[in-house]
Amino acid sequence: MSFLSATLSRVKPSPTIAMTAKAAELKAAGRDVIGLSAGEPDFDTPQNIKDAAVAAIAAGKTKYTAPDGIPELKQAVCAKMKRDHGLDYTLAQISVGTGGKQTLYNALMATMNDGDEVIIPAPYWVSYPDMVLLAGGTPVVVETTLANSFKLTAEQLEAAITPRTKWFIFNSPSNPTGAGYSRDELKALTDVLMRHPHVWIMSDDMYEHLAYDGFEFCTPAEVEPGLYDRTLTCNGVSKAYAMTGWRIGYAAGPVELISAMRKIQSQSTSNPCSISQWAAVEALNGTQDFLTPNNETFKRRRDLVVRMLDEIDGITCPTPEGAFYVYPSIAGLIGKTTPAGTVIENDEAFATALLEEADVAVVFGAAFGLSPNFRVSYATSDAALTEACVRIQRFCASLR
Ligand SMILES: Cc1ncc(COP(=O)(O)O)c(C=O)c1O
Repeated sequence: MSFLSATLSRVKPSPTIAMTAKAAELKAAGRDVIGLSAGEPDFDTPQNIKDAAVAAIAAGKTKYTAPDGIPELKQAVCAKMKRDHGLDYTLAQISVGTGGKQTLYNALMATMNDGDEVIIPAPYWVSYPDMVLLAGGTPVVVETTLANSFKLTAEQLEAAITPRTKWFIFNSPSNPTGAGYSRDELKALTDVLMRHPHVWIMSDDMYEHLAYDGFEFCTPAEVEPGLYDRTLTCNGVSKAYAMTGWRIGYAAGPVELISAMRKIQSQSTSNPCSISQWAAVEALNGTQDFLTPNNETFKRRRDLVVRMLDEIDGITCPTPEGAFYVYPSIAGLIGKTTPAGTVIENDEAFATALLEEADVAVVFGAAFGLSPNFRVSYATSDAALTEACVRIQRFCASLR
């Protein structure tokens, strides 16, 4: 009998974390590696948020809190949902967890039964399928296309729904493509969901505030109020507020689901860090002024990366609406050989050779369920991005 659980054998470690670790290892060994694999902003956490954390420590707010968050933070989430989306929630409808990751995981753990299916458009954030598997459910992956800017169509969603579908996971702007659904594109999907009342919607709005060229973010429960009673809207402070290390995420949804999520959290991790919660109160209630200059920086970097990658023979790099990722296709490079003799059979071979032969770390598309592509995170300095793109250009030109 195996000591480790059978469930675990179906789950793989996060490939994005693995790639970042490999790049760090090469760097530590003295190699001049440029890392474009990490999913976190290079900006510092805004000062007002840090100050709120220091004040919380000074005031002794360092003890256990309610397992799924302090009322002040739940209230700040309610105010945010009203302010940004016109949606009303009470404190009993809010769950605060240790990062967006925990709230998503809690929701799946709280609802999955054997045979339950979860529709996940690909490319997807790496953790969705594995979280579904850990929770005992079955991921149903539906591949989008570059031709449709990596967005799921209403027909694809309709075709994927079965009597066993429990959740549809929706993520806009997307990790890894940056694709953001317009109101009309989202409405086409919510119209389908209105015809299938047994399907719940898990909307992962983590990149809400990172949107460019006037893209107007919207979330399913605001686009189709008829879905309010079966939508869990998940978000967090990690990306927009440059708070990845603070570990605060939150979700808003029906009371019964939120209570079930609280039960899981109360028997596993208990409350997220009390100090981080007070910092998150300030993030949500305080000034949002830094978002505009941060987004101008991200947009400039996105344009730089798209331009330099799209001009490479064999690479197609669409311009996405948001987040801080691009997801170029390398269809035109498959079958070529690197100077060291590696055949680019797939995107994993491409990313590995790029790291080993050109000192640039990216994440291969297979990790996100759609190939042949790779993900570039442009949340790093313009100088590093330019140098990385020059290296990618040189590497691709050296392929035979
Ligand atoms: C789409 C998406 N959802 C959720 C998360 C989790 O964020 P957190 O760091 O708050 O757990 C991430 C982080 O990379 C993400 O990209």
